[in-house]
Amino acid sequence: MPVPHDRTYWNATAPAPDFPSLSGDLSVDVAIIGGGIVGITTARLLKDLGQTVAVIEARRVGREVTGKSTAKMTSQHNIIYQTLERKFGQDRARLYAEAQESGIRRIQELAARHGIECDIEPKSAYTYTTQEKHVSEVEKEVDVAQRLGLPATLTRETDLPFDVLAAIRFDNQAQFHPTKYVAGLAATIPGEGSHVFENSRALDWEANRVVTDNGTVTARTVVMATHMPLGQVGGYYAQAYPYAEPVIAAPIRRVPNGMYINVEQPSHSIRTHRNENGQVYGIVAGTGFKPGHVDDERKYFEELERWLVDNFEAGPIEYRWVNEDYTPMDSAPFVGWSKGQEYLVATGFDAWGISNGTAAAMMLADLATGRDNPWLPMFDATRVKPVAGGFEFAKENLDVAAHLVSGYLSRKPKSFDELAPGDAAIMKIDGENVAAFKDEGGVVHAVSAVCSHMGCIVGWNETDRTWDCPCHGSRFELDGTVIHGPATQPLGSKVTG
Ligand SMILES: Cc1cc2nc3c(=O)[nH]c(=O)nc-3n(C[C@H](O)[C@H](O)[C@H](O)COP(=O)(O)OP(=O)(O)OC[C@H]3O[C@@H](n4cnc5c(N)ncnc54)[C@H](O)[C@@H]3O)c2cc1C
Ligand code: FES
Repeated sequence: MPVPHDRTYWNATAPAPDFPSLSGDLSVDVAIIGGGIVGITTARLLKDLGQTVAVIEARRVGREVTGKSTAKMTSQHNIIYQTLERKFGQDRARLYAEAQESGIRRIQELAARHGIECDIEPKSAYTYTTQEKHVSEVEKEVDVAQRLGLPATLTRETDLPFDVLAAIRFDNQAQFHPTKYVAGLAATIPGEGSHVFENSRALDWEANRVVTDNGTVTARTVVMATHMPLGQVGGYYAQAYPYAEPVIAAPIRRVPNGMYINVEQPSHSIRTHRNENGQVYGIVAGTGFKPGHVDDERKYFEELERWLVDNFEAGPIEYRWVNEDYTPMDSAPFVGWSKGQEYLVATGFDAWGISNGTAAAMMLADLATGRDNPWLPMFDATRVKPVAGGFEFAKENLDVAAHLVSGYLSRKPKSFDELAPGDAAIMKIDGENVAAFKDEGGVVHAVSAVCSHMGCIVGWNETDRTWDCPCHGSRFELDGTVIHGPATQPLGSKVTG
């Protein structure tokens, strides 16, 4: 059966990477769990510092959250700078800005140095509004960003096919092909005692050891570059909440030159990519929703598709997928030593983990080699009581409690017979919560609906045909295999009926 969740525009337009699985035990200076932009960049930078590394990737490098993003390389993260300045003060907000700009430049340097063909295109980035009530926020963001040394100007001129009331423009930004970049960078790592392993899931870990089914890697330092640290490490799953976003790609005839995102809801983040045949695609992400809430998923896909078709003369939507990221409770990512000081971690990128993830890799490589890094005070992953969590975060935690009890059940069929082909539901069978999907051939795929991380009830992701956990963002295939942590164990398969 095809696996729709792997069918993103980026994965379809890049050759599949092909690294071996870990087989046997080995020892390196630094073990890195996770082969997304954070893990692979950290590995490359550590190798440049004379370290031996082993990347242990559960699936394929660059094809998970990084390869499901819109891959804008920009320090313009909607209207974040006024928030950071308010919560952390001007000096720390400046550190965030410098880290992002350095992240963008580092991607360009690495791609140039290693000859990685990843379609980097210089672009301006715009955050705009079409609503009067957001104009003052946009104006304020320009002021703050300029004060922090960012290349910001206020404008009403864009090449969008509709008028905007105000926009923040950042020059010298870029867009690229994320899976080509990460796979290309990964290819430079093996050799001289360093390794990249795919299809090798970390099932257990300690400060100096990573255990998989087929071997153990021993190291001086372990980096957890798994988007969300695994299991209970650092408790970050309770300090950054997951949200999913619809993403679509379609050929377009009205081609904007910049990269755009709006301030208001519904959210639209658009960029373009020219494929090998010269066809320009619009790649657009929409409004975030809680993972596994299928009604919201449908609503936001429909809205996004209408917006793309109405405004950019789009052809048929050829790719649809869902991607996830985590919003940290105080708006700043967590990067550095984890709370117990045992692991190096990086999480909470709030959908801006291309620049943030690269900057994080620079910080992690410094820490792993005992060096200081000037940006760390802004990202400190040991901050015990993050500032200014606010009402939103309290609401998220309440919602987690609700999902632990009952899950999100939009419909409750009582038996597999009630499922139509192509349909999915959570149902109670012999007192157990069961996640069931009936495929077009009438075969039922049923697993336990209880998330293997901490026991929340998973919900259906109709686009990708996966079971997604609304509590902390774990994702599972139809047979229960883990796609995304913090879970590391599959959904139980002890289902009968
Ligand atoms: C819709 C959307 C659009 C976005 N667009 C942008 C954008 O335009 N610009 C931007 O800056 N950011 C964007 N982002 C955010 C950005 O994509 C992410 O923050 C970033 O890619 C995260 O990188 P990562 O390396 O942490 O995670 P990943 O790329 O997910 O890498 C983590 C890796 O760890 C592996 N792993 C997990 N568990 C295990 C285990 N047990 N053992 C071994 N390996 C494991 C996974 O398989 C995965 O490959 C977007 C996010 C979303 C949701
Ligand atoms: S991800 Fe934590 S309970 Fe599911």
